[in-house]
Amino acid sequence: MSDVSTAAPNPHLAQYEARGLKGRILSGVQPTGNLHLGNYLGAIRNFARLQDDYECLYCVVDQHAITVPQDPKLLAAQTREIASAFLAAGVDGKKQIIFNQSMVPAHAQLAWVFNCVARMGWMSRMTQFKEKAGKDRENVSLGLFAYPALMAADILIYKATHVPVGEDQKQHLELTRDIAIKFNNDFAAPDFFPVTEPLIFGEATRVMSLRDGTKKMSKSDPSDQSRINLTDDADAIAMKIRRAKTDPLPMPETVEDAEKRPDADNLLGIFAALADREKADVVREFAGQQFSAFKAALTEVAVAKLGPVGAEMQRLMKDPAHVDGILRDGAARARAIADPILADVYRTVGFLKP
Ligand code: TRP
Repeated sequence: MSDVSTAAPNPHLAQYEARGLKGRILSGVQPTGNLHLGNYLGAIRNFARLQDDYECLYCVVDQHAITVPQDPKLLAAQTREIASAFLAAGVDGKKQIIFNQSMVPAHAQLAWVFNCVARMGWMSRMTQFKEKAGKDRENVSLGLFAYPALMAADILIYKATHVPVGEDQKQHLELTRDIAIKFNNDFAAPDFFPVTEPLIFGEATRVMSLRDGTKKMSKSDPSDQSRINLTDDADAIAMKIRRAKTDPLPMPETVEDAEKRPDADNLLGIFAALADREKADVVREFAGQQFSAFKAALTEVAVAKLGPVGAEMQRLMKDPAHVDGILRDGAARARAIADPILADVYRTVGFLKP
C-alpha cells in the first residue's frame, strides 16, 4: 500500500498527526448482495488493517444502490450483510464508525451542492457511468449520472484525507479532488475541503472468475462456481477450488510465465493474497508441480482465512437487531462530524441559517 500523489503540506492532517494517526479514511461499499472473495481481498480485508493508523468511517452506501432498481425487501438485508462483513473482517465498530449512508442526511445535502459544482462535461467522462448506462443512456436514472457527486459528498462531508481505492474507483476519486478544488476556488475558501489522497493496495486487488481468468470475479456471473462467496462454508470453498479452471500444463515456473496463463495466474494471486505472501514466492514454491497439489494447498489457506470470517458473518446476519444497533450508533457519531461541516458549507454558499 502506498501514497500516490505528492501534495504540499496538508493543513488537514495536523489534527490526526497530533493523535499519532495518519489521517481520516472514508470508504463506501454498495449493498448489492453476494459479497465474494474479490470484495474481501480488494476492499473489506484492508478496512481492518487501516484502523490502527487512521480514524475510519466505513459506510454502506444504500443511496448509491438505488441508482439502479433494487428490491426494497432485499436492500435492508443486503445493507446488514455488508455491515456484518465489516465486523466479521475485524473492523472495531466501537472505535471506528460503521454506518449506512441514508441515516446521515448530510451526504445527500452536500451532494446537491456538489451537483451544482461539478460540470456536465466532467460527469460525462466517467467510464463507470458509460459502462453502466451502455446504449440505454436515455433510460438510466438521473441518480446514476450524479452518482460520483454523491460519492464526493460521502468523502468530503467528513473532510476525509484518504480513501482506499481499487482501480475501478480511481476516476471517481479524481473527480472528488476536482470538486474539492473547484469548491474551494469558487467560494474563495482555500483549504476548506482537503484534496483527498488515494490509498492504493498492492497485489491481488483484482480477483478473477474461477471459471475464466480473463473476467473479473462478479456477483452477477450466472455461475456460482465462478466465485467464492464470503458466506461459503469449507465444503463449498473446497469444491469451487477443485473445479476451478486451469490449463493442461504443470504449474508455472516464473511470474512472467504465470502472467501469460490467466487461470493459473489468478489462483496464484489469490493464494498469495490469502497467505500474505509475495506471488513470486508462491510461484517458486509450486513451480512445475501438478495443479492438484497446488489446489489442495490453496484450499487449506482459503478455508483457514475465510472460514472464520464467513462463520462470523453468518452469526451476525442471524442477529439483525444487533447489527442495526451498530449502524445506528455509528450513524449518530457520523452525524456529529458531518452536521457542523454541512453548516459551514451552507454558510459558505450563502444559505440562511435555519
Ligand atoms: N462507488 C464505490 C463502489 O462502487 C462505492 C462508494 C460510494 C465509495 N461512496 C464511496 C467508495 C466513497 C469510496 C469512498 O465501489
